[in-house]
Amino acid sequence: MIDLSPEAFRQLGYRAIDILADQLANIRDLPTRQPVPDPLRDQFLHQPLPETGTEPTQLLENFATKVLPYPMGNASPRFFAWVNSPPAPLAVLAELLAAGMNPSVAGGDHAATYIEHAVLNWLKAIMTYPADSGGVFASGGSVANLIALAVMRHVKSGGQDRATGFQTHAAPLIVYTSTQGHGCIQKALEALGFGHQNLHKIPVDADYRMDLAALRAQIAADRAAGLNPVCVAASAGTVNTGAIDPLTDIADLCAAENLWFHVDGAYGGVGILGDGLAEHYRGIERADSLAIDPHKWLYMPVECGCAFVRDAAAMRDTFSLVPSYLRDDRALPWFSEFSIQQTRGFKALKLWMVLQQIGVEGYRQLISRDIELARILQARVRSRPDFELVAAGPLSVTCFRYTPAGVADVDQLNRQLAEIVQRSGQAFLTTTELAGQLVLRACIVNFRTTEADLDILLDAVATAGQSILAG
Ligand SMILES: Cc1ncc(COP(=O)(O)O)c(C=O)c1O
Repeated sequence: MIDLSPEAFRQLGYRAIDILADQLANIRDLPTRQPVPDPLRDQFLHQPLPETGTEPTQLLENFATKVLPYPMGNASPRFFAWVNSPPAPLAVLAELLAAGMNPSVAGGDHAATYIEHAVLNWLKAIMTYPADSGGVFASGGSVANLIALAVMRHVKSGGQDRATGFQTHAAPLIVYTSTQGHGCIQKALEALGFGHQNLHKIPVDADYRMDLAALRAQIAADRAAGLNPVCVAASAGTVNTGAIDPLTDIADLCAAENLWFHVDGAYGGVGILGDGLAEHYRGIERADSLAIDPHKWLYMPVECGCAFVRDAAAMRDTFSLVPSYLRDDRALPWFSEFSIQQTRGFKALKLWMVLQQIGVEGYRQLISRDIELARILQARVRSRPDFELVAAGPLSVTCFRYTPAGVADVDQLNRQLAEIVQRSGQAFLTTTELAGQLVLRACIVNFRTTEADLDILLDAVATAGQSILAG
């Protein structure tokens, strides 16, 4: 029977919460991550299709013993990889409550719709973005960027995209991003039919920010070659180094050149709340579109992304199948008119709760603390003779290398030691490539990380490096 009695539901729910609360209680001492044992991996991959049922209590125990112990690691204070945060515990409960209600937030007159509007309005206020812009929740940063760039395509193709398809123009439409722009921009443009040859990647300056002079020159060269520049996709926080492109200069250039100004703030957008960082974000309020990603630095459980478009009517025109003469604007328009999705989950509830739990001031403190920890990590890297600091943007990413004297292949050493650290369970960080060099990359979007965790990370790196050198 698929339905549960209220009492059985209650008991199972208590057990599920106990399982997660036990994990929370031990999170500091648990390995950041541990490999899935081979037999268990085989068991997962070859599990037969269940013909008959199993008791839910047993399924919860299977989760506790076979799934939970092998996490990706991002709930741990020593997870420094990618841009994946621990989930705010209250948001975890909100996910349960949202699933319990299970509305489709396509639109309509029910509470979930109004809560999504409320949270979108709050996010606009945080981002200093116009209150009358269009907005919608999405699965994450990639889809938020896709939605925003779809609106750009609609506007810049003069609305042709919907009726006759796209890129039938004599002059191909050209989009610009920096060489540090996230891969999702390319994916979005490929999916939207631009073709990645029409995404021109602009070099970066010494701080990994889009080089404005190079951008200006490329636009001029493209116009001279008969191409049709239409959009700059800037980054407010690159994934590699946390660099923020010169937004206000790009806004000026876009205005002068009649280009759509898009900002990918998936990682760094909400860094606008960080102490003393507002200056870096000046100009973001002029963006034609903006993607942010609450499942990164606002500590929402995945999935939770968000797209904003300054011209709400253009956003609606991109996706709506309701002809304008039938639109009834006495009620709030349906979200399904602003995005590709029809049935939509109740993603706003978790952020609605946590924003009220800690307030914007709570987020200011958490984000500022992550950045402060990154500065402390950078100072420690500088103070250890075997380490080299390679890049440190204004946000919370640190790129560094383990470089003891006399090592011929530093790239190889760092690649190998990263794997050893990852397997050790002591900490988890990734590598990336900067200026042709392999570097270690530590990103702090984690309200659990402490200074002691930074020492554990650096000690783990040094120990792994020494063990490789000792053969
Ligand atoms: C700058 C930036 N843009 C876009 C994305 C893609 O976001 P998502 O993984 O939520 O799709 C990321 C992910 O790390 C990112 O850092």
